[in-house]
Amino acid sequence: MAASCRLTLLPLGQTLEVAPGTALAELLFAQGVEFPCGGRGRCRGCRVRVLDGTLPVTPEDERLLPAADRAAGWRLSCRARVAGDLTLELAQWETRILSDDATFDFVPRDGLGVAVDLGTTTLVAQLLDLRTGDVLGVRTALNTQAQHGADVMSRIDYAQADAGQGRLERLIRAQLGALLAELLSVAPGGAAEAGRALTDVVVVGNTVMHHLFCGVSVAPLAHHPFEPVDDGLKVFRAAELGWPVAPEARVNFLPCLGGFVGSDILAGILATGLAAAETPAMLVDLGTNGEIVVGNRDHLLCASTAAGPAFEGARIAMGMRAATGAIAEVSLKDGQLECRVLGQSEPRGICGSGLVDAVACSLDLGRINPAGRIPGAAELPLLGDVKLTQRDVRELQLAKGAIAAGIRLLLGRRGWQPGQLERVSLAGAFGNYISRASARRIGLLAFPPDQVQPAGNAALRGAKLALFGLPEQGGEFAHLRRRTEHLCLNDDPQFQEVYVEEMGFPDGG
Ligand code: FES
Repeated sequence: MAASCRLTLLPLGQTLEVAPGTALAELLFAQGVEFPCGGRGRCRGCRVRVLDGTLPVTPEDERLLPAADRAAGWRLSCRARVAGDLTLELAQWETRILSDDATFDFVPRDGLGVAVDLGTTTLVAQLLDLRTGDVLGVRTALNTQAQHGADVMSRIDYAQADAGQGRLERLIRAQLGALLAELLSVAPGGAAEAGRALTDVVVVGNTVMHHLFCGVSVAPLAHHPFEPVDDGLKVFRAAELGWPVAPEARVNFLPCLGGFVGSDILAGILATGLAAAETPAMLVDLGTNGEIVVGNRDHLLCASTAAGPAFEGARIAMGMRAATGAIAEVSLKDGQLECRVLGQSEPRGICGSGLVDAVACSLDLGRINPAGRIPGAAELPLLGDVKLTQRDVRELQLAKGAIAAGIRLLLGRRGWQPGQLERVSLAGAFGNYISRASARRIGLLAFPPDQVQPAGNAALRGAKLALFGLPEQGGEFAHLRRRTEHLCLNDDPQFQEVYVEEMGFPDGG
């Protein structure tokens, strides 16, 4: 047997030298792969496909994977050990990452620029020709920090333990540097010329990503009032980050707005034109942390609200990210639920958009009542083995109640009714894929569907706009931040009462 085996993981592009006999689960866990049933060979969630090399079929593979899948190379990674060189495709990485191809007005500049949306789970970077605004290349990846915690709170916990902050900082800086090098290699003229032409990188992200990238302690984000360190636009030189591009290229991390409202939202305000709106409008980013901004060109009010992970499919019995095998849409046909599964695959779970649809349809069918109970049953079958439990419905109620309460309180602060808003822009991947009718049906967004518009990856678009509007180019982040008031919902005496009210589902359709 060889002294070591070469393990290549796609689409991560990662290659590892590993000892023969090592459990795959051990190796993949370190790469951020999730094992939904705890690696007990019961769920199929850890499937990998052997593209090169051999992994023997185990009894669990025989039991859980159809013969055609086994013949195509699919195996349960939690039951497998490495015995030789292998190239594997990770099914969990077939997730949807939202990029941006919207057009916008800009004042041309010389050189190349890169816009980066640095998310807790995913990264998206676009290379732009600053004279023409053309996008020359796009790269997406999963944030490698995810191996140390899926959400911002676990990332903060890790950062505060044993030099974890330094480790997370090095990980993300190295990953972004490598992503940048990859992007430049696709530029016409080649990597060396593009590296010299690069003048600016604009990075946006939530407050935790900001602090971890910029080397600012996350300690203030761990406790009330969760205020980020406010030191404006952070500018690094590529050389100090060790990035293989023009040493003097500027890497600009846009500033945060307030407690858990980061520069991804500042970028969203730029992208949706909220700061220039004459009539009141709203921006909502639905996620584990829901961020809401409401206002117009005179004044903006923002807040964040802890929705929990249900929209991302977490803490749901059969929840998963919006990846292959996820039920992503549910509709009613002839009085029955009809489910659409991502990736032409057997259903293996349900993601956030499917969950919202499934509950909306079940409310219409009377299988869930306005209090959120499933009358006379413990669970609701959806498709195949996938079902919703009573606890799943409760998790969704907690998530949607937090967002709906935040919206109501922010509108109340300005004395506005929902109908007065000219538009509600939904940012982020979940906001892009969610059914607006279902969101209304469950009381998440109490607006007529035509008032609500998906804004795509507004954070990335805002970062691109900022490339043309950095302070050297007359950008006015400081002014925009001064006009944006941050409201700490935890301090609002009405929040708990409104939250409990908003956890119920609206009566009727
Ligand atoms: S983690 Fe569930 S089958 Fe492998």
